[in-house]
Amino acid sequence: MELKYRALEGMHDILPEQSHLWQYVEARWHVHCHRYGYREIRTPILEAAELFERSVGETSDIVSKEMYVFQRGEERYAMKPEGTAPVVRAYLEHGLYGAGGMHKLYYITPFFRGERPQRGRYRQAHQFGAEIFGAAHPLADAELLAMVMDFFLSLGLPADALELRLNTIGCPECRPAYREAVRNFGREHYALLCKNCQARLERNPLRILDCKECVQITAAAPPIDPYLCDACRTHFESLQTLLKSLGVAYVRDVRLVRGLDYYTRTTFEVVAEQGLGSQNALCGGGRYDGLVTELGGPPTPALGVGIGVERTLLILQALNAPLPEPSTIDAYVVAFGDAARPIALQLAQRLRAAHIATELDLEGRSPKAQMRLANRSGARFAVLIGDTELQQHTATVKDLQSHEQTTVSQAELAEWIKTHL
Ligand code: HAM
Repeated sequence: MELKYRALEGMHDILPEQSHLWQYVEARWHVHCHRYGYREIRTPILEAAELFERSVGETSDIVSKEMYVFQRGEERYAMKPEGTAPVVRAYLEHGLYGAGGMHKLYYITPFFRGERPQRGRYRQAHQFGAEIFGAAHPLADAELLAMVMDFFLSLGLPADALELRLNTIGCPECRPAYREAVRNFGREHYALLCKNCQARLERNPLRILDCKECVQITAAAPPIDPYLCDACRTHFESLQTLLKSLGVAYVRDVRLVRGLDYYTRTTFEVVAEQGLGSQNALCGGGRYDGLVTELGGPPTPALGVGIGVERTLLILQALNAPLPEPSTIDAYVVAFGDAARPIALQLAQRLRAAHIATELDLEGRSPKAQMRLANRSGARFAVLIGDTELQQHTATVKDLQSHEQTTVSQAELAEWIKTHL
C-alpha cells in the first residue's frame, strides 16, 4: 500500500508497544509531584503568540526561529513552545496569587518547536513540568532540585549516570554589568565567534556562553561571580549549602545561561553522561522572579523545571533501567458454536465488571481460530463455552500456562479467576 499521509517530520505517533512506558513514567510523575505537595494544572495548546514573545523572549531561538505561529483574523496564535508561560498566564487569570502563600503546580504537556529533528529532539515533544510560585527563599530552589534528582533516581537511573549542573545568572540589578562584560569580551573576539554568536552578540550576549561551537573561545570569558549583587550571591551560597546538606551532588557550570529570557538567579540542567548522544539535557529550569510581573501580575518570586519525557524514556531504555512489560489481558472467552456466542459476550462483560481484563472474538471465528487467538493473546485463562457449559451454566476454564482444565459455575467464574490470577 502506498501511504497517502504520514506524520509530519519530527512529530511521532506513540504506538501500543511504547504507550505502556509512557503511562508508566506519567503515573510516576503524578505520584512524585503529589508526594512533594504539587497540584496538577492543564493549560491549552494554543496561546496568544505574544505571551511567549514577552516571556521566553523575542531574541530567544525558541521564539525567533522555532515557534509555530499562525494568524486567524486579528489574532496571532502560537502552539505552546514550552509550559511555563501558560502556567503563569493561568495563575494570573484565575487569581491564584489572591489566595496568598505558596503555590506548587505541576503538568504534563506536549510542546512544539520547529527544530531540526534528531534523536532526542523533536518538533512535538512532551515535558513533565513543575512550578513553584511565591517562594523567594533558597529552600525552594533546594527542594526543587532535590525533587528532580529524586525523580530520576526513583526511576532506577544510577546517580553516576546523571550530572546536575548549576549556575546563577544574577538579577536585573547585577546582570546588566555582567552582560556588558560578556559583550565586550565577545567584541574583542568577534572574528573567532560563529555566525550565530556574532549575530546575537549585541542583542543577547550571554547566549554566546552556551554555544557549543564557541566553547574554545568563550572559555576565557569573564565569570559572573564578581558581578553578583550581595542578595544574589547570598542566595546562591545558601542554595549550595542546602544542597550539600541534602547530599544532592552538583557541579557548577558557569556557562549555563539557558535559552529562555525569563530566568533570574538560579539556572540548572540535568545532563546524562551517556545514552542520549548530543541531546543530553534531561531537564532544565531555574528561577524566574520577574516573569509574573512581566506578564502583568503582582511581584511573585517563582521557579520551576521542565523534564523531557522522550529523553527520560530514551535514557531509561539506554541504561536498562527497570521498565514494565506491556500489560496483557487476563481471560479470553471462547465460544464453541453460534449458540454460545451471546453467552460468551455476556460472560466477558461480567468478567470486565469484576475488573478482569477480558477479550473475545468479535468476528464469528471457528473455535479452533478462537483458541489460537486465546493462546496468542497473553491471557492466563481461556474460558470455554460449549453446549455442555450452556446447559449446565458452567464454564471450562483452561489455564494457558499449565494447561489444566477446571469446570466452574458461571455465577462463580469471576471470583474463581480472581483468586487464581
Ligand atoms: P527547556 O530547557 O527549553 O526548558 O526544556 C526542558 C527540557 O525539555 C529539556 O531539558 C529537554 O529534555 C526537553 N526538550 C526541549 N526541547 C526538546 C525537543 N525539541 N525535543 C525533545 N525534548 C526537548 C523549558 O522549556 C522551561 N519551560 C523549563 C522551566 C520550567 N523553567 C522553569 N520552569
